[in-house]
Amino acid sequence: MDKRIKIRKGKESDIPQLVKLYSGVKEIEDFVGMKYDKGYFMHFIRPKSNILFVAECDGKICGALNAEAAELTFLNNVVVARAWRGKGIGGSLIKRLEQESRKKGNKTLLALVYDWNKPMHKIMRHYDYTRGEKTVIYSKNV
Ligand SMILES: CC(C)(COP(=O)(O)OP(=O)(O)OC[C@H]1O[C@@H](n2cnc3c(N)ncnc32)[C@H](O)[C@@H]1OP(=O)(O)O)[C@@H](O)C(=O)NCCC(=O)NCCS
Repeated sequence: MDKRIKIRKGKESDIPQLVKLYSGVKEIEDFVGMKYDKGYFMHFIRPKSNILFVAECDGKICGALNAEAAELTFLNNVVVARAWRGKGIGGSLIKRLEQESRKKGNKTLLALVYDWNKPMHKIMRHYDYTRGEKTVIYSKNV
């Protein structure tokens, strides 16, 4: 990958850039009432079990991945800024998550992808993820 790109753990001071990066990205936009604000990102920085990786391009955040890791690892989101897509950043973030999962002793990773997000389905297949066929999401506001 390009030497100007660095993958590292996310920190609190990254949050304003992360809020911008995630906002308006339709592939992650309305996952059952999700709001990508400061509280959301803190949830991935604070608890030790959770994971936030960022990609820095020329010193600015150009991509990020957040996941929850308990008995298994759940990839909540991965986003790369439009201008930086197709350069291996999303893939590097996913591979980094796999390494981190193995380190935590988690052998299984899960991800939710909208059915219409065809490029992401291809990427998942490309990295040998198995597509589930029978799961439907239910949600309720209480
Ligand atoms: C999905 C996303 C994060 C990918 O990031 P990216 O930096 O462009 O991805 P990469 O360039 O690292 O490509 C990842 C891998 O998939 C492959 N790939 C990329 N697009 C592909 C496609 N359409 N079909 C098949 N393989 C593809 C690449 O060759 C690469 O493989 P490699 O590691 O063997 O070289 C980015 O497109 C994005 O932010 N999309 C909008 C948000 C989104 O859909 N997130 C997922 C929500 S679940």
